[in-house]
Amino acid sequence: MTATEQRPLDVIVLAAGAGTRMKSDLPKVLHPVAGRPMVGWAVKAARSLGARQVVVVTGHGAERVEAALAGEGVTFARQDQQLGTGHAFLCGAQQLPGDGDVLVLYGDTPLLSEDTLRGLLQDHRAEGSAMTVLTGELPDATGYGRIIRDETGGVLRIVEEKAASPEEKAVREFNSGVYVMDARAPELAARIGNDNPAQEYYLTDLLELYRTEGGAVRAFKLADPDEVMGANDRRQLADAEAVMRRRITQNLMREGVTIQAPDTVRIEDTVQIGRDVVLEPGVILTGETVIEPGAVIGAYSVVGSSRIASGAVIRAHSVLEQASVGRGADVGPFARLRPGTMLGESVHIGNFVETKNARLDQGVKAGHLAYLGDVTIGQETNVGAGTIVANFDGVNKHQSQVGAGVFIGSNSTLIAPRTVGDAAFIAAGSAVHQDVPEGAMAVARGRQRNLEGWSRRYWGGLREKVDVKLPWLSGWLRKD
Ligand code: UD1
Ligand code: CA
Repeated sequence: MTATEQRPLDVIVLAAGAGTRMKSDLPKVLHPVAGRPMVGWAVKAARSLGARQVVVVTGHGAERVEAALAGEGVTFARQDQQLGTGHAFLCGAQQLPGDGDVLVLYGDTPLLSEDTLRGLLQDHRAEGSAMTVLTGELPDATGYGRIIRDETGGVLRIVEEKAASPEEKAVREFNSGVYVMDARAPELAARIGNDNPAQEYYLTDLLELYRTEGGAVRAFKLADPDEVMGANDRRQLADAEAVMRRRITQNLMREGVTIQAPDTVRIEDTVQIGRDVVLEPGVILTGETVIEPGAVIGAYSVVGSSRIASGAVIRAHSVLEQASVGRGADVGPFARLRPGTMLGESVHIGNFVETKNARLDQGVKAGHLAYLGDVTIGQETNVGAGTIVANFDGVNKHQSQVGAGVFIGSNSTLIAPRTVGDAAFIAAGSAVHQDVPEGAMAVARGRQRNLEGWSRRYWGGLREKVDVKLPWLSGWLRKD
């Protein structure tokens, strides 16, 4: 490693602009791409480069932007009036120690890859440049500042669209707005003026200032100009989302994840997925979700900040939020696991079962139509169809415990707080309002009476109607 490679890196993220084309109450840089606010992508990239300090320059919607980045270990510089990129840079540069390289990023270009930035930095350091501009090439670079070079290919200056001559406008190489500079940048940027038609302080003027100071200026060209595609309106936001989605799914597939219909799934970059996981069409995975090797996520399931252990199967149309699913468990279709759900190994949750703050130990089965809230259930317990844990008394939520090896008959209600001992039985249709001891059978429902001959007496008074509508029954009534 050479001495230059050890220079610390500081990053300034420009994020004070208004973003009016987004037509939104949310500041532009907080619009999410693949679940992360755009400015968050810039901060993440900065971190991945090992930045010593990250300064985010805020202005429009400053409070909200700062709140969204609280806890990310960045500092903020307020730019109260947006007087141009040069001015924004100076606002941020005041916080820098002044002895490292300085990288400038924008808060609204989420697609810029860490690989590209590493390439830029490496070029800057290897060439011993004073300033390196990240550039791209497009058939039509309208809107961007153009890179003007001399006969030998050396970079001379950047000319903004508004000030460009027809020949300059024909230049296809454009300024991405991303630069890396040596530690003199803040001092030189202080000399930028606003003597231009827009009366803005252009950070691009720094390039000529470096040149007059005798610093070497270079351009580093992007392989894919889409990486610096800004998301200025909702259409571009959707384009950015699509590019990011494709990037994420392709990475996952490279790592051994099967994605049956990659264009239909949405996976946030915070999600971790192991080998041989199968994602069926329409799956949405968000937040801090972890899916261990070999699990299957069924079609149109939505999994947020949950952990799915190896070999578990989540069947179609299930919705999980802050849940954990044990090895080999089988969930859904149409299951809903709400926050605080912990399913042990080989648990079976069937259709239309809702759980919340519920721990179901190994081998518990709740196959159909149940609500299990604020409850722990011991291993191998069978929860019958239609079981409800009535955890709410209108004011408070109450906690219940069900033991291991219990059989809860269908359509039972456990009125919380309730304790049911190991190996107990609960008769179907019970409203359980007392605790059930270990090994007992609880029957908590009205005793059945059979009123012999009742049907014949009832229909007898309605013979006419039965005749017209129910031919089988009228035949039965005529028999003796
Ligand atoms: C800038 C460059 C242009 C380049 C283009 C790439 C200048 C003078 N021009 O143009 O050469 O091709 O980016 O996209 O730099 N910002 C602030 N405070 C300000 C002004 C801007 O924080 O006072 C932020 C914006 O929020 C945005 C970024 O800086 O994230 C770029 O600003 P923008 O107005 O979009 O620059 P352009 O005029 O497009
Ligand atoms: Ca712009």
